Amino acid sequence: MQAFDVIVVGAGVAGLCTALAAAPRRVLLVCRGRPGSDGSSAWAQGGIAAAVGDGDDWKQHYDDTLRAGAGHNLRAAVERLTQSAPDTIGWLQQLGLAFDRDGERPALGREGGHLRHRILHSGGDATGACLMRTLAAALSRSSHVTVIDGCDLEGLLLCGSQVCGVSVRDAGGRSVEYGAAAVVLATGGIGGLYRYTTNPGCVDGAGLALAIAAGAATADLEFVQFHPTALAPNGSEGGQRLPLVTEALRGAGAVLVDGGGRRLMAGLHPMQDLAPRDVVSRAVWHAQADGIAVYLDARMLGNAFRRRFPTVHALCAAQGIDPLRQPIPIIPAQHFHMGGVRVDLESRSSLDGLFAVGEVACNGVHGANRLASNSLLEGAVFGRALGARLAAALPSPARGSTRGVRLRPAADDAARLRLRALLWRGLGLLRDAPGIRSVIDTIAADHALGECWQGQLATHLATSALARPESLGSHHRSDAPHLARA
Ligand code: SIN
Repeated sequence: MQAFDVIVVGAGVAGLCTALAAAPRRVLLVCRGRPGSDGSSAWAQGGIAAAVGDGDDWKQHYDDTLRAGAGHNLRAAVERLTQSAPDTIGWLQQLGLAFDRDGERPALGREGGHLRHRILHSGGDATGACLMRTLAAALSRSSHVTVIDGCDLEGLLLCGSQVCGVSVRDAGGRSVEYGAAAVVLATGGIGGLYRYTTNPGCVDGAGLALAIAAGAATADLEFVQFHPTALAPNGSEGGQRLPLVTEALRGAGAVLVDGGGRRLMAGLHPMQDLAPRDVVSRAVWHAQADGIAVYLDARMLGNAFRRRFPTVHALCAAQGIDPLRQPIPIIPAQHFHMGGVRVDLESRSSLDGLFAVGEVACNGVHGANRLASNSLLEGAVFGRALGARLAAALPSPARGSTRGVRLRPAADDAARLRLRALLWRGLGLLRDAPGIRSVIDTIAADHALGECWQGQLATHLATSALARPESLGSHHRSDAPHLARA
């Protein structure tokens, strides 16, 4: 079995930052797609939040993060994130990332939940793509990382209770095992479990499911974020990735309206269209449940739309929508998972040798609802820090015989579609006890769903949702009152 110092699984922002910062350790990076295009990061339109503007400071960014997270956040993690943000921006610039400028200074946008303009962008609304190109280019200049793409994670190797390697199915369909002192999961979120999601199809929760199978502790699995503005599907397909219509548009002045042009958010929240994401998503959901179509009206941006939001402009054009002349039809879609593999501030899971960073991890930083543009930031801050720590010291080598823990078989296409529809209905933006129970019961009664790892992961999510009989942040129980802890 080939051995490395560190194995990183997943090549989104968190995985690449970990791998880069772990130099000179010998790192194996295994991923499904190619570095630079793997996972959700490359699709991120909104930017990276950092308190770098005049009059701003990390404490205000911290306060906004806590308020969006309904106070459920781990304060020490929020402190680390917001304090490290400006320095992380500098590190990304050194790697070659060019942020959009307003004359001599970085151009700063605003998004939901932020009381200040503090979002840095690159390429307008193509920040994720620009960031990932930069990190992939840095990777190609790094001799300490071996990349194997086209791989599916199949299993974890354990010596006693310590994780000491992975087993992957390579592009040729062969099962291959690799050993390492440290295994880092950076496999992203769970969008592929939902009917509508802004995540690409490869982001399906496999890393989380495997960590659970190996006995790793999890946290906050019930907190699933829905973005209020995905481009509405123009057919009635069963399950799919919907293009995002970035929140930065609302930061630039766009507003949510009904078919008659009436403002949706007026009177619903003091921050109106820039209220935290869970609040806006629920408003859209309620309106649509009442049969009211909802649009994002960005016509007031005029020609600046094309210049500042080229990605959304092209996505609209591909569906025959001219956002300079007509409001954009939108629906909410699953976007981010705040819960995941429980890790401490050093990204260590409850299993020795196993680490997790980025969306698959839960270090408590996002609380019950992530603040806009804190996700690329989280991947970069905690990934870079973990890589640097592993560069300085590796876990002690595991001793004893090795055993494998494997993922159960994957759902076939038909079962996956059933599951996506089931979670959309029972574990969506609004939940209640009977709906959540019906997710658990339906999976148990459906042999194909009950036996596959996706069905088991969905059961874990539903069980966590049932165990929190209160509404908090993104976890909105229509059968329980809303708490506000911020
Ligand atoms: C967006 O551009 O609206 C999404 C940004 C984010 O998820 O933080």
